[in-house]
Parts: sequence; structure tokens; C-alpha cells
Amino acid sequence: MQLKHLNQMPYKHLLVSQELETKIAVVQLNRPQALNALCFELMDELIEALEALDKNTDVNAVVLTGNEKAFAAGADIKEFAERNVTQMLLEDRLSQWKRIEAISKPLVAAVSGFALGGGCELMLHCDIVIASETVKLGQPEINIGVMPGAGGTQRLTKLVGKFKAMELVLTGRFIDAKEALELKLVNKIVPVADCLEDAKKLAREIAAKAPIAARAAKAAIRKALETTLDDGLEFERQRFYLLFDTDDKKEGMQAFIEKRKPQWTGK
Ligand code: CAA
Repeated sequence: MQLKHLNQMPYKHLLVSQELETKIAVVQLNRPQALNALCFELMDELIEALEALDKNTDVNAVVLTGNEKAFAAGADIKEFAERNVTQMLLEDRLSQWKRIEAISKPLVAAVSGFALGGGCELMLHCDIVIASETVKLGQPEINIGVMPGAGGTQRLTKLVGKFKAMELVLTGRFIDAKEALELKLVNKIVPVADCLEDAKKLAREIAAKAPIAARAAKAAIRKALETTLDDGLEFERQRFYLLFDTDDKKEGMQAFIEKRKPQWTGK
């Protein structure tokens, strides 16, 4: 497999690579000395990298991962410890998470070890989650005198319901792989050694589909979590109609009729 390492870009806390044949990219959080805590610099880099990949026409799906010990142990507490309310309001760092929400290509998370606080919230921004047997998820902000601030109270509640969300946010306890699967917080659990490869496999499968259709489908499924059924159905219908102007729609249907494999151009 031909791998292109994109670290000619000056990333201090990320490793970014791209598989040219399969059209996937892998973004690895790489701040192991702090369990991949999401310091401001890392967050800036992550957003820059994801936005660059979102624009890169040689990439159709992105895998986001950490290391075996931690996906990410949350916001960097040492940075937050210095801040007061005025600085938080003026800097408004958390509003930059909207830019991760806005990434239009499918994001597959490969999560091992700790995914806590902002790390769990980062996972919740992804579209599919492959987790390993060692995963420990949680929103432990209550233990340091704050609360989730990057969407945890909202996204977690929509996914697991009010009572479980209350329990997790108010106790800050960690949940293990079995419970994460039961709560439908992750798609599947695999051995640690297989986690990244499984996520890549899934990303390759998705990247081999018609890319504009995949992005439209992602947008429509996300819409379901934030709007009424009527508005969501309207959104879906509009996206569906729009796809009828793509070359890939013509190719996909023609290939079906001619009983051959479609050749997507991503147009
Ligand atoms: N911020 C800054 N540094 C962190 C960190 C964090 N969130 N999590 C871990 N680290 C650092 C530790 O300070 C330690 O550094 P030193 O070696 O320099 O002391 C290093 O990473 C290793 O951590 P531990 O020694 O604590 O490792 P452990 O295996 O004993 O414990 C852990 C692991 C249970 C994850 C523990 O590190 C921990 O509780 N971390 C904090 C988790 C947390 O509270 N996250 C929420 C942050 S707030 C937030 O995320 C707000 C938001 O919504 C945006």
C-alpha cells in the first residue's frame, strides 16, 4: 500500500498519513506524554488537518485515532487551570469544535484506552467508532469542578438518553468496553491490536463508495439528531434530489444496468 506521510506540514502533536490507492487518511493524536490531552495547540492542529483533508479530493474518509493507552484524556487541565471566566469568554476556545462538526467526510474513530472529557466528546463528533477491549469512556469533568463543555451534555444525552447521561456526567465514572457497546456509544469492540486496522478497513470500504453521496448521507443522518422528523425528511429529500446531478449517480445506475462495477469519479 502506497503511504503518503503528510507531516511535511508542521504538526507538533499529530501524525497524518494518506493511503493513495484507497483514498483514506489517518490522523493520529500524538501527545503520548500527556495521554493525548487536547491542549490548545493540538486542537488548532487537529482542526487545520481535518479541514485540509476535507478539501483534499484524494481523500474520501478519515480515521481518527490516538495510541493504545489513550485516544485522548480530555482538555488539557494544566492549561484550563490557569484560566478565569473572562479569559474563557474572550478566547471562546470551545466554539472551534463547530469546525469538527462541520467536517463533511466520514470520520471513523479507532479508540483504545482513555477517551475522557473532551476526548470522549471528540469521539462523539466522529461518525463510526471502533473501540478496543481496553476502552475507558467517561465525562469526568465533575471531578475537577466543572462540566462537559464540548458537547458532552448534548450529544451524549441524545445517544444514551437522559438517565444514563445524568449518571455519567454527574458521577464522572468511567465505563468499559462492554457497557459502551450496550449503550450503543461504539459500533464494535475489537482486540487492541486490531483496532486501528479494523477502523482503516471500514474507512477503506466507505472511501470506495461514491464520495458525494457518502457526504450527503452523513449530513442527513446527522440532521436526524438535531431536528424534527419533518425537517429531517425534507433535508433528506433535497440531498437525494441533488445527487441526481452527479456523474456518480449516472455511473452507479448505468453500472447496475450493465451488470458491472461502477467507476466513481467523485463528481
Ligand atoms: N490534561 C493534562 N494532562 C493530563 C491529562 C489532562 N486531561 N490527563 C493526563 N494528563 C497527564 C498527567 O498529568 C501526567 O503527566 P505527568 O507525567 O507530567 O504528571 C500524564 O498525563 C499521565 O497521566 P497519569 O499519571 O494521571 O496517568 P494514570 O494512568 O495514572 O491516570 C487518567 C490516567 C485516569 C486518565 C488520569 O490521567 C486522569 O484522570 N486524567 C484527567 C481526565 C479528565 O479529567 N479529563 C477531563 C478534562 S476537562 C475537559 O475535557 C473539559 C471539556 O469538556 C472540554
